[in-house]
Amino acid sequence: MIKNLLKYAGKYKWFALLSPLAIVLEVLIEVTIPLLMSVIVDCGISGQPIAEKDSFIADMLINLGFADKTGTDLIISLGVLMLGLACISLICGAAAAFFAAKAGMGFGAELRFGIFKKIQGFSFANVDKFSTGSLITRMTTDINMIQNAFMMAIRMLVRSPLMFTMAIIMAFSINKKLSLIFMCIAPVMFALILLIGAAAHKRFTKMFKKYDKFNTSIQENLIAIRVVKAFVRAKHEKDKFKVSNDELKDASIFAEKLIILNGPIMSVSIYSCIILILWVGSKLILGGNMQLGDLMSFITYIQQIFMSLMMVSMIFVMSVMAKTSMKRVSEVLEEKSDINDDTADGNLKVKDGSIEFKNVSFKYSKNAENNVLKDIDFSIKSGETIGIIGGTGSAKSSLVQLIPRLYDVTEGEVTVGGINVKNYKLQELRDNVSMVLQTNVLFSGTIEENLRWGNENATLDEIRKAAKIAQADEFVMSFPDGYKTDLGQGGVNVSGGQKQRLCIARAILKNPKVLILDDSTSAVDTATDGKIREGMKNLLPETTKIIIAQRINSVQHADRIIVLDDGKIDDIGTHDELLSRNEIYKEVYVSQQEGKME
Ligand SMILES: Nc1ncnc2c1ncn2[C@@H]1O[C@H](COP(=O)(O)OP(=O)(O)OP(=O)(O)O)[C@@H](O)[C@H]1O
Ligand SMILES: [Mg+2]
Repeated sequence: MIKNLLKYAGKYKWFALLSPLAIVLEVLIEVTIPLLMSVIVDCGISGQPIAEKDSFIADMLINLGFADKTGTDLIISLGVLMLGLACISLICGAAAAFFAAKAGMGFGAELRFGIFKKIQGFSFANVDKFSTGSLITRMTTDINMIQNAFMMAIRMLVRSPLMFTMAIIMAFSINKKLSLIFMCIAPVMFALILLIGAAAHKRFTKMFKKYDKFNTSIQENLIAIRVVKAFVRAKHEKDKFKVSNDELKDASIFAEKLIILNGPIMSVSIYSCIILILWVGSKLILGGNMQLGDLMSFITYIQQIFMSLMMVSMIFVMSVMAKTSMKRVSEVLEEKSDINDDTADGNLKVKDGSIEFKNVSFKYSKNAENNVLKDIDFSIKSGETIGIIGGTGSAKSSLVQLIPRLYDVTEGEVTVGGINVKNYKLQELRDNVSMVLQTNVLFSGTIEENLRWGNENATLDEIRKAAKIAQADEFVMSFPDGYKTDLGQGGVNVSGGQKQRLCIARAILKNPKVLILDDSTSAVDTATDGKIREGMKNLLPETTKIIIAQRINSVQHADRIIVLDDGKIDDIGTHDELLSRNEIYKEVYVSQQEGKME
């Protein structure tokens, strides 16, 4: 999992490597400074000659020409040396932080892009599996967590062990007896931190689940805010939001409660250790077995050791949180799109718009008990116009979604142009099978930009021609900005029927061999609906047209009409044939005629 994710950091590996290098230098300086401090105290203040001080730093200082210096002279020159070193360490620290930030943020951005690309390749079934809310959490909260953990890991994974080892060596070199004191406390503390981390992991997993629920709830509300207002459901929505918000809060507190225990455990350990060392150390000094400066630098090392342990614990906590996030992000990255080009032959072209369903059965998920479509068998000649009619839930949408492979059949096969749809590249298939989905959307941008989704290179004339067939040209031209009219987010600036006509124009612009309209004129008045059908018949004679509708009107002129009932084909025939022999069709027809007469 980690290896898979780290691929995304590849581009930034140099930054990720430079950062630890700068840190090595920073740590080396940090562990040297307390030694210089002890020389200042013992030689500068207490007056002991440098040559008599038993420490390797003293030997180094003698080599550097400090041997003759004493008193204030020694204090000032060592002070300047320390200042210089502190500055270098500061610069290294800043550089390390900069490189780490660059690597971390870059890694996050690549990862987000990776997920986004992956989602674009998802089939409808894949999207059904992860809720949209969950995908958003994974792309935002989870990736933030991973990127912060990565940034911290780059800096701390080198810094802590190095600092820890160096400081222990220094502490032992100063006084072995004193060092043993904290060597007893440290392991106990470390074990405690690990235990807490392990427990926190479970709680964080729960917290992220709540995040998903929370995001799904907001997302649904925002998308449907108009419906919420129309039904005056604001109070109900507020209550619903409060529940998921509170649940998220409780889960976060529950998880954080454990993590914050780390701080107090650390503080108690550090300060009890220091008190103990001061007590033992002062006895050693009084007995003449230790110098004051050494005790001072010893305590600094102890602090450094604890600091590095603290950092290790922070990394641990962070990695615990990040592990949950990494798992969730990997799930998306490793999800195999069930609909892909694996079985495709790149050279195959869709030769015509003939369609055949051979013994097709279909269900949305493998675990579902019943098939949504059962034993579907029929064929359509290229250029035919086919109507599909049936009650809600009779699986009309499910049936046509199999043609451009929005879902794959469970059993049997669907062919277009005489060849199984699975053998075409998706791009080739979907370029030739254009579908206006039942719940369709436009995007923010101008009308022209939206229509160009159908064909990027279309000229304005071609765009207008498609719009004319869809009966959209007239109303578009009546807007002051015509085709340059901005649609607003989700196409809010046009009416429901206008939106449907734009969606049809977009699909026609593809110049497809098969055009599927899934209840796409439901919000269009009958007269305009008739004109659209007329236009398609005259101007797109070669194209196979499949029209799903609730109104008999919309399909009665079709060459043949398929009557679907509960996922099965009840009958296929012309309007007259069906009217004379099919009960369902007759019933629908009669009920709609009655409606007209009233
Ligand atoms: N994404 C989905 N996941 C699981 N089940 C689904 C999904 N979409 C539809 N179904 C189920 O499949 C059945 C057929 O639905 P479908 O949308 O094909 O009906 P329809 O004939 O198009 O209805 P309508 O006229 O209301 O559009 C329904 O029982 C529905 O609950
Ligand atoms: Mg439908």
